[in-house]
Amino acid sequence: MASKTALVTGAAGFIGSHLVDRLIAEGYSVVGIDDLSSGRLANLPDGFDLRNIDIRKPGVRDIVAEVRPDFVFHLAAQISVSVSAREPVKDADVNVMGALNLLEGIRAVEDEKIKIIYVTSGGTAYGEPAVLPALESTPVRPLSPYGASKLAIETYLPVYEKIFGLEYSIIRLANIYGPRQDPHGEAGVVAIFAKAMLGRKPLKIFGNGNDERDYVFVGDVVDCVLKAAENSLPGPFNVGTGVGTSTNRIFEVLAANCGHTEKAVHAPPRAGDINRIFLDATKAARELGWTPRISLEDGLKTTAEWFRQQSD
Ligand SMILES: NC(=O)c1ccc[n+]([C@@H]2O[C@H](COP(=O)([O-])OP(=O)(O)OC[C@H]3O[C@@H](n4cnc5c(N)ncnc54)[C@H](O)[C@@H]3O)[C@@H](O)[C@H]2O)c1
Repeated sequence: MASKTALVTGAAGFIGSHLVDRLIAEGYSVVGIDDLSSGRLANLPDGFDLRNIDIRKPGVRDIVAEVRPDFVFHLAAQISVSVSAREPVKDADVNVMGALNLLEGIRAVEDEKIKIIYVTSGGTAYGEPAVLPALESTPVRPLSPYGASKLAIETYLPVYEKIFGLEYSIIRLANIYGPRQDPHGEAGVVAIFAKAMLGRKPLKIFGNGNDERDYVFVGDVVDCVLKAAENSLPGPFNVGTGVGTSTNRIFEVLAANCGHTEKAVHAPPRAGDINRIFLDATKAARELGWTPRISLEDGLKTTAEWFRQQSD
C-alpha cells in the first residue's frame, strides 16, 4: 500500500515537530509548513521537506494542491495569550485568516478527500467554568483574543463540512509541555522555568502561584492527534488529565529536578490569564481509545533532562 501523505503546519514548532517525528516513524510521507517565527529548523530531521511560508500567503494553497495530502494537521498559530491581548488583530490574522486560507486550499482540491485535524486550545476555550474538569459540553467562553480566535475556526469546520463535505477532527489541548517547547515566549511555564533554573537565572511566578492548569506531556498529545486522524469522528476532543496542578507545584517539582534552591519571586497576574482550568478527556478515551500515559513527575523529569542537555 502506498504511504499516506501528511501536511503539518507549524511543523518546526514544539508540538508540530514531535508530530512530524512520529508521522515519519509511522511511515507517512510528510511535508511541513512553517514561517519559523517561533519554530526552529533544529527541531526537524535533516533533509525534511519544510516550506518556509506564512500560513496567510496564497502560496499555501498552491502547496496543498501540489502535495495533495491525505491529512492536514493544522498547528501553525500565534500562541501567546499576552500578544493576543495586546494585538488582537494580529492574533486573528494568523489564527483565523491563516486557517481559512488553509481551508480554502483544501477545498480547492476537489478530486481528493483531505481530512484536517485542527489542534486548538481547551485551556482557553472554556474560560473559567464553575464546574471542573471541563467537558466538551461545557459552554465555551474564552477570556482572551487567543481563545476566541482559536475557537472561531472550530465554528467554521462544521460549516465547511456541511457545504463542501470537508472531513475534520478538533483536538482541544490543555497545557502541553515537553522537550523543544520554546522557553523564550510568554507561554509554556515548564519550559520557561526549566531554562531559567538550569541557567541560574531569576524567574518569577505571575500571581500567587495557586492557579491551576492541566499539564499533558507532548508525546501523549501526538498519540491523540494520530488516533483522531485514523478515525472519522469530528470531536471536539479534550486532551487533558482531568487534574489541575498549581504553578507552585510545577515550580517545586522542576526545582527538585534542576537543583534550583532559590525561592520564587511573585509578580502581578497577566491580562487574559486563566486562574483555574482542567479538562475531562473521557470522551477521547471512549471514542478514540486515548488516555494520557506519562505522569507529571516523569514528564517533568524528561523535560528538565532535555533542557539540561541543551544548556551543556
Ligand atoms: N503548547 C500548548 O500548551 C498548547 C495548548 C493549546 C493549544 N496549542 C496549540 O497547538 C499548536 C502548536 O502550538 P505549540 O505549543 O507547538 O507552539 P509553537 O509556537 O512551538 O508552534 C507554532 C508554530 O507555528 C509557526 N507559525 C506561527 N505563525 C505562523 C504563520 N503565520 N505562518 C506559518 N507558521 C507560523 C511557528 O513558527 C511555530 O513553529 C497551536 O495551534 C496552539 O494554539 C498549544
